[in-house]
Amino acid sequence: MTQAVPTPSSVTGQGVPHPARQRVFSGVQPTGDLHLGTYLGALKQWVATQDEAETIFCVVDLHALTVPEAVDPVVLREKSLEVAALYLAAGLDPEKNLIFIQSHVREHSELAWVLNCVTPLGWLYRMTQFKSKSEARESVGSGLLTYPTLMAADILLYDTTSVPVGDDQRQHVEFTRDVAARFNNLFGETFVLPNATVPEEGARVMGLDDPMVKMSKSLAVTRPGHAINLLDDEKTVQKAVMSAVTDSGRDTRFETASPGVQNLLSLYGVLTGEDMAHVDAKFDEQGYGALKKALLGEVLATLKPLQTRYAEIMGDRAGLEHILSRSADRARERAAVTMQRVRDATGLA
Ligand code: TYM
Repeated sequence: MTQAVPTPSSVTGQGVPHPARQRVFSGVQPTGDLHLGTYLGALKQWVATQDEAETIFCVVDLHALTVPEAVDPVVLREKSLEVAALYLAAGLDPEKNLIFIQSHVREHSELAWVLNCVTPLGWLYRMTQFKSKSEARESVGSGLLTYPTLMAADILLYDTTSVPVGDDQRQHVEFTRDVAARFNNLFGETFVLPNATVPEEGARVMGLDDPMVKMSKSLAVTRPGHAINLLDDEKTVQKAVMSAVTDSGRDTRFETASPGVQNLLSLYGVLTGEDMAHVDAKFDEQGYGALKKALLGEVLATLKPLQTRYAEIMGDRAGLEHILSRSADRARERAAVTMQRVRDATGLA
């Protein structure tokens, strides 16, 4: 269930023009394949906001450069379009939302620089995602460290009030608030302070092959059966669901079930919209096979129409590119207003 978008009263920032409506901003990196976790933690709740707020959704290609060894220019460009097409296929209406590619609006990079200048290094070193992403690397680019200031720029450029994300991005949104507050203290009220909106269910989908780790795009590359990708064919989805890790017992009650079974139960609950009491009652004494079969049905019922729409959208690339460039033009106009406030506040000529 998606939490209500917080009201503007939770936004501090005297002197900053308050958006008349809630303003929602979020994004996905065009790296790897989008999976069920991305859908439930992000895309699904984005769609739910489009009728109640001004909504801006970005494909954050600049963030993809933070691990430059993994970048293939041809693949990155294509992935950015694919991710935008998935936004639309998931149900975002191009007439109701701005949907664009981050690097098409240069103000994101410009503001990121300014924010870097006010961000204490200690705040960046504390980020858990930096710690985990830098751990196994021989060489770590400074972009990986300053990744959260670019994310803060994405959010702050649009006077965002609400950032719908999965649980793993909560810390980055808190960081954004801290950076905005610090800038406001140093230079006067300039930025609206945003809140993370994290769904009650589906905010942390775990790997099907290992329920102790989050379902992740990077792990999915080397571990078949780890994730259900949004564009997987029926056979692949079936294999992943039916071979998901459970245990040797039969316990399907959420409270007492093992982590793998809990993951399957909560996926079933969030896909059907049923609360856990109903789900518990439905699978009582049924065994894991029945749970997996039912979950498979729900996953396919979600993915099939999405995949059909995706194919249609990718079949009209000119149409897709038109949506992206029209949105980028409108985003640029808004971003320019915020950048002017930043220029005025800091004395940039
Ligand atoms: P990214 O690309 O890693 O993930 C995109 C969104 O999907 C959510 N998510 C999940 N939710 C539930 N369970 C999972 N297993 C799971 N895996 C991913 C993430 O929480 C996220 O909401 N830094 C961001 C991209 C970004 C951004 C922004 C987001 C850049 N600028 C501004 C919001 C606002 C990221 O890497 O997300």
